[in-house]
Amino acid sequence: MSQQFAVFGTPISHSLSPQIHAAFAGQAGIDLHYVAIEAGPADFAATLQAFADAGGVGANVTLPLKQLAAELASSLDDRAKCMGVANTLVRKAGGWHADNTDGIGLVRDLTDRHRLDLRGRRTLLIGAGGGARGIAPALLDAGIGALFIVNRTPEHADTLADLLGQPGRVHSRYLGDVEALGEFELIINATSANRGGTLAPLPRSLVGRRSVAVDLSYGEAAIPFMAWARATGCHDAIDGLGMLVEQAAESFKLWHGVRPDTNAVFAALSGHAAALVTAD
Ligand code: ATR
Repeated sequence: MSQQFAVFGTPISHSLSPQIHAAFAGQAGIDLHYVAIEAGPADFAATLQAFADAGGVGANVTLPLKQLAAELASSLDDRAKCMGVANTLVRKAGGWHADNTDGIGLVRDLTDRHRLDLRGRRTLLIGAGGGARGIAPALLDAGIGALFIVNRTPEHADTLADLLGQPGRVHSRYLGDVEALGEFELIINATSANRGGTLAPLPRSLVGRRSVAVDLSYGEAAIPFMAWARATGCHDAIDGLGMLVEQAAESFKLWHGVRPDTNAVFAALSGHAAALVTAD
């Protein structure tokens, strides 16, 4: 029987992860079965247990389960432990081992695919949930400059800034006061605002000549922030599709020991994503 893998979250039906992992498996000649399983916070523990009982050996975890995944694991890699969020689970003899490949996935997409030099970039991170927590340490490790975190609920930004433990470099500020913060060379939307609400308009004053705007979402959810980035003259506007493929490749490597070639898969999905956006 082929090895069983799944991605858990809600909503999950539009997830591209099954397609991505099927393509990687084809490249590597590995026989695997990867499905999307709908689960919310209330039923995730039971659904994950049922998956393990049925032979599941690896899982990805997405919105809104990344924190719960770290809590349910019996061991954690430092990348999941430091922020308490996981996107990858590996079945071990004693239970699930949790890891987080979001941060390295984003940094690889920005530096390898988009050829950005992140070093010294004054960075604005909008959002302080699971997505923001997953990427912030990797951005700091990649050498960004000062990191300002703003969030709808200010206490969550304070908590994230405290967790990062670099008070001279990481600052939390009120979202409402963002206009006073000046220009940023990297502006990251890590909110889930466009999956259910809308992000209040951001001021043009954030944007300078070299500004790069990044949305961790892709497809329709990324459209408003990408449109803002273009309208305000950002140098680059990058959605989360590349990060999705790169984090998947890192998860694949944890499960199978080989890192797939992501470029062909990204190119194929870019066409697919464009089709999704234009479909009504
Ligand atoms: P994810 O795993 O995608 O980060 P999450 O942990 O639920 O999901 O976090 C969602 C993030 O989007 C949070 O920072 C949230 O702000 P709160 O901490 O105030 O909940 C933010 N967010 C969600 N909807 C938003 C909206 N309409 N405007 C601004 N921020 C929003």
